[in-house]
Amino acid sequence: MDEKRWLEIDEQEPIPEHIQEKIKAFRLKHVEVIDEKYIKRPSMIEGIRKAGEINTGVLDEVAKQIHAGMRTSEIDDIVREYTHAHGAICAPYKYEGYPKSVCTSINDEVCHGIPSRLIKLKDGDIVNVDCTTILDGYYADASRMFMIGNVSPQRRKLVEETKKCLEIGIQAAQPWARVGDIGYAIAKYAQSLGYSVVRDLGGHGVGLEFHEDPFVMHIAKKNTGMLLVPGMVITIEPMINAGKPGVAIDPYNEWTVYTKDHSDSAQWEHTILITETGNEILTY
Ligand code: MF3
Ligand code: CO
Ligand code: CO
Repeated sequence: MDEKRWLEIDEQEPIPEHIQEKIKAFRLKHVEVIDEKYIKRPSMIEGIRKAGEINTGVLDEVAKQIHAGMRTSEIDDIVREYTHAHGAICAPYKYEGYPKSVCTSINDEVCHGIPSRLIKLKDGDIVNVDCTTILDGYYADASRMFMIGNVSPQRRKLVEETKKCLEIGIQAAQPWARVGDIGYAIAKYAQSLGYSVVRDLGGHGVGLEFHEDPFVMHIAKKNTGMLLVPGMVITIEPMINAGKPGVAIDPYNEWTVYTKDHSDSAQWEHTILITETGNEILTY
């Protein structure tokens, strides 16, 4: 969003007095607070919500069509065509040189898998489809796992428990809690199952840009990191590995992140709004 538009909204829809007071009190206690330019106002939230509705529609469309034997480039086509047909844009395309409209990450790929005509989904694969939608300049970011055909019980469990990790993270993202509380809750659960949590990538603020502050760790200490203020919009997107937490980047395409030990990895993502009473998922 350009500066001028932001200033207009800031004037018409200032941060409520009682929230500003509360922020001040936390600042006096040396708690780190987000730059107020990232605290979303009602009209911005409406914009992100609408982007979220299209984003959900895209992933629902992928869910309908995904199948064994499909090339991941076909997922890219579905995402791009559905998004454009609804007057929106795919954020990944040309983002820092990324070549496609969506990320498709299979099995030991953690994230940023690049759709290709040469990659076909096979029976037993687990695949993450990560889609970020821009509508009227507002961003919404979400991803889901899909299980292709007959998936092993181990893979199925990883997929389902990773979804649970996202839900636990969302539950921890309460107003006036801290960003670290999210990662604390997720890692405690994931590690209790013998899984590991990827540290090198995380969730993020989102809405006016693709990746805003704060960085949302999925493994963290309780009561650390930025304050969660009503009006913040963040993603939570735990990447959970069946094996060790270490990851590496594909040296050929310089994007795709995979597990160093080649163990399976799963990820689910939602964009959420911190409200005064809890939070709201904007990508349902
Ligand atoms: N959607 C990813 C996220 O959740 C980012 C993908 S960046 C891309 O933050 F360039 F690979 F698309
Ligand atoms: Co994201
Ligand atoms: Co994403």
